[in-house]
Parts: sequence; C-alpha cells; structure tokens
Amino acid sequence: MLAASDSSVEHRALASATVPYHVEDERHQSLLSTGLLPLSTTRTAETASRLRCIACGATPDSGGQDFRCTTCGDLLEFFFPGWTSGPDAFNPPAFDPAALKSLWLNRRTSRDALDQSGVWRFRELLPHTPNPKNKEHVITLREGNTPLYRLPRCARAVGVENLHAKHQGMNPTASFKDTGMTVAASSAHQGGFGWVACASTGNTSASMAAYAARGNMHSLVLIPDGKISWGKLSQSLDYGALTCQLRTDFDGCVRILNELVRQKPVYLLNSVNPYRIEGQKTAAIELMEQLAWEPPDHIIVPGGNLGNSSAIGKALLEMRELKLISRLPKLSIIQAHGANPFYRSVREFGGNKLEPMTADTLATAIRIGNPASWKKALRVLQATGGEVEEVSEVEIAAAKAEIGADGIGCEPASAVTLAGLKKLRRSGFVKSGEAVVLILTGHLLKDPDFTIKFHRGDLFAGTSGEIEAAPAKYLQRAPVVLDADLGAVIAVLDAAERNSK
Ligand code: F0G
Repeated sequence: MLAASDSSVEHRALASATVPYHVEDERHQSLLSTGLLPLSTTRTAETASRLRCIACGATPDSGGQDFRCTTCGDLLEFFFPGWTSGPDAFNPPAFDPAALKSLWLNRRTSRDALDQSGVWRFRELLPHTPNPKNKEHVITLREGNTPLYRLPRCARAVGVENLHAKHQGMNPTASFKDTGMTVAASSAHQGGFGWVACASTGNTSASMAAYAARGNMHSLVLIPDGKISWGKLSQSLDYGALTCQLRTDFDGCVRILNELVRQKPVYLLNSVNPYRIEGQKTAAIELMEQLAWEPPDHIIVPGGNLGNSSAIGKALLEMRELKLISRLPKLSIIQAHGANPFYRSVREFGGNKLEPMTADTLATAIRIGNPASWKKALRVLQATGGEVEEVSEVEIAAAKAEIGADGIGCEPASAVTLAGLKKLRRSGFVKSGEAVVLILTGHLLKDPDFTIKFHRGDLFAGTSGEIEAAPAKYLQRAPVVLDADLGAVIAVLDAAERNSK
C-alpha cells in the first residue's frame, strides 16, 4: 500500500483522476501472504493500452490464442494511445516525468507486495489486465529489483572506462524471464485459464512453472530433449510442471505448441505473448533509475528469440517519448555464431528477410534458428542505432570466465554480451570513454556443467574449437584433488601464491 506521504506524489504524477488501491480487508491480506494481489493502484484513461499488429497496424480487441494478427499473421504489441501528446495543445502529456520518478522511488519503501516487485513498481507503464471490472490478481515473486554491478576487470580487459552489468540472473528463478512472466501469468490467471504452456530452451519453462504454481494453474513445458541444462530442467520439475522433452530442437517445440494452442484452451506464455514483452520492459526502466536517469551510451543484449531486445528497446523508446530520458542508448544485439539468423538477416539481407537455420551452440539458452520477434528487434536496432554481432563458442566461454572472475558470473548465453563488446570495441563502434551496460540474462548456476567442463579443460577437447581455446587457458581454474594432508594443501597454496606474483 502506498504510504500516506506517497499519495500526493502519485496525484501529481498522473494527469487524470486515479483509483488508489488499498489493502483494506482480510481477503486482501491473505492474498498478500499467498502472493496473489489485487492488480492496480492507479487507473487512468491516459494509460489505457491497446493491441496493435506490428506489420499491418490492425488494432484487434484481443490477442486470440496465439497472439498473432488475424489479418496478416504477424506479431501484436501493446501501445498506449493516451501517451502521445502530439501537436494538439489540448492533449497534455499523460505524465509528469519528475513526479513519476519520485513515485517509483517512494514505492521502494512500501510494504505492499506490488510495490516491492521491481516490475509492478513501474505499473504506470504496463498495460492493464484484460477486464478491469474483474477482481484482478497479480502473481508476484518480488521479481526485478536486480543489481547493477561495475565490472572493473572486464572493463580493463576490454578497454572501456565505464562498464556495468545489469544482472537479470538475480531474479527469483534466476533469469530475466520472471519480469515478463509475472505480467503474462497474471493475465492468464485473470483470464481464468487452468493451463499455461510454453516451448523453451529452459529459462522460460522454469519461470513459467514457478509463476503457474504460485497462481494455482497447471503448466505444460515443451523442451528440446537433451539440449537444455539440468539446472533449468530441475526447476520445472520441482515447480510441478508437466514437462515434455520432445525429440526436436527449440524451433520444433514452438511448432508443436503453436498447433496445440489452436486445439486446446491453454494460455501461450512464449515471448510472442505481448504481456511478456511489457513486463520485460521494466529491466530498462529500473536500469535508468539506477543510473539516475542518465542513459549509458550502449546497452548490449544477447539475442535468441529476440523478445528481450525488443522489450528493452520498446522501454527505451517509450521512456524517451514520456521524457523520462532525454536521449537513447544504442542497443546492440549479440548472437552465437552457430545460432545467428538475426545477425545474417541484418548483415546479409539488410533486415529485409530472415532465413531460419538449424541452430547449434553450447549456449543452449539461445540455440534458436527461427526467432519469433526478429522484426520487433530490427525496429529497435534501427531506432537506437545499435549494432548486431556474432561470437564464437570459444569467445563465449572465455567471456563467461572473465565475468566470473569479476565475482559476478552468469550463464553462457549472457556472456555473449561481453564477447560481443570486445568485437564492438575492436571495430570502433564502442569507444573507450563511452558508458556500456551489459544485460546478463541468467545466473551462473543455471548451467554448472558448462562451467566445470570449461575449467577442467574438457569443453573443447577433441572439437574444432580446441586450438582457438588454447589462449583462454589462463582463465581456467581446475579443481585440485589431493589427499587429506595439510602439507599437500600448503604446497598447493604456496605454488598459487608464487604464480599470482
Ligand atoms: N539469455 C538467456 C539466459 C535466455 O534464457 C534467453 C532465452 C536469452 C538470453 C535470449 O533472449 O529469446 O528474448 O532473445 N531463452 C528462452 C527460453 C528462449 O526458452 O528460456 P530472447
């Protein structure tokens, strides 16, 4: 609940009358303890959202089962008609940016679960749920609120003075997916769905399973057999999902899921679901707040299905539209060489088409050959003046170890950001004096197999990457197996001390 002192700020922030939300009765209190909460503190005409097709501009009233335009089949997105101030003097901007910033900051001290979520704290920039007249519920695990870390060693190695990592792996299920999942799963809950479903390389499924469990919904997970990490698989099992390992790749799982949602009343939670994108926007809003609303020069994001880059870019454009920031960072997208359909689309075809491919990379989270949101991501790249890059398997592994050595760590897919930054520095696209933020999307412990194999020197043994990997040996810290003998431990310690000089 908003503290009394917050309400005046809130009223200044919103241009029209609001309906404040109060935790007012026992039912609300018990919802609070279960994580199920009434939705909105504020509802204004100005923040009403509509769906729009990104290709033909059609504005359907609902997204249907597959969140695709019924006219042309392309993706839908939310837009907020009331935000556009336009040239019409009688149509004032929806928000006072300064008041909005202080409202969001004040919510950090609130005891309301909605305010404690790093997603719902920014609810003025999120769409309202499908039917505002219903008793609405939000499923929250207090997602978002992720730290922004300096990466001093990485900065020195890359040759930039100002390098930060926004660690989205510090979310409740240890990946950025939670920020979108809280919004989309809440929408499913409010829509009365008994089942939610996704195809996944592991993180979406882990996140969906958790939020479905919290919302008392069943969840169906389709994952490629043998191509996701055990950590992610174990999460979806523990959270109680019906988990199907299909003998295909991620793109094959998506094909089956798209057929399934046409036949069964399951709610689709892949990132074609525009509620996911809206929730994932908040990472960029929170980042700007952490940087005192002074945008960095560059934001670097891994690219898989391209929902996250689309979401962060959408947030940047909307924040500029609402005058929350005065200039746009360049948003660059990095793919693994073995899963680079978007890189090739931009570099070879000028973004005019995307040729699907059979993807292969050890960074299994981004092992995706036919990214659904490529047109959205392209728009963001063009609007912000960002770049697209590809990096090799060895470059990913080395970058991951370097991020680890800064005491942070991440999963392989996240490390493409640092590997990509090195290339963007070499090409001169990123300059040494510029401020750079890497978006780390998943936690180190998501894929311990990869990490252990790298440090033991097994990751590339007997593969074509073995020679390329040789210079990265200095990053390896293989475990030392010894007898339980004090002298043996001291000898190893002394040797390590000598080597560190
Ligand atoms: N990093 C991690 C750790 C991911 O799990 C993903 C995507 C990405 C980056 C790429 O983000 O798809 O929005 O471009 N994982 C999805 C999943 C596909 O099923 O967990 P994207």
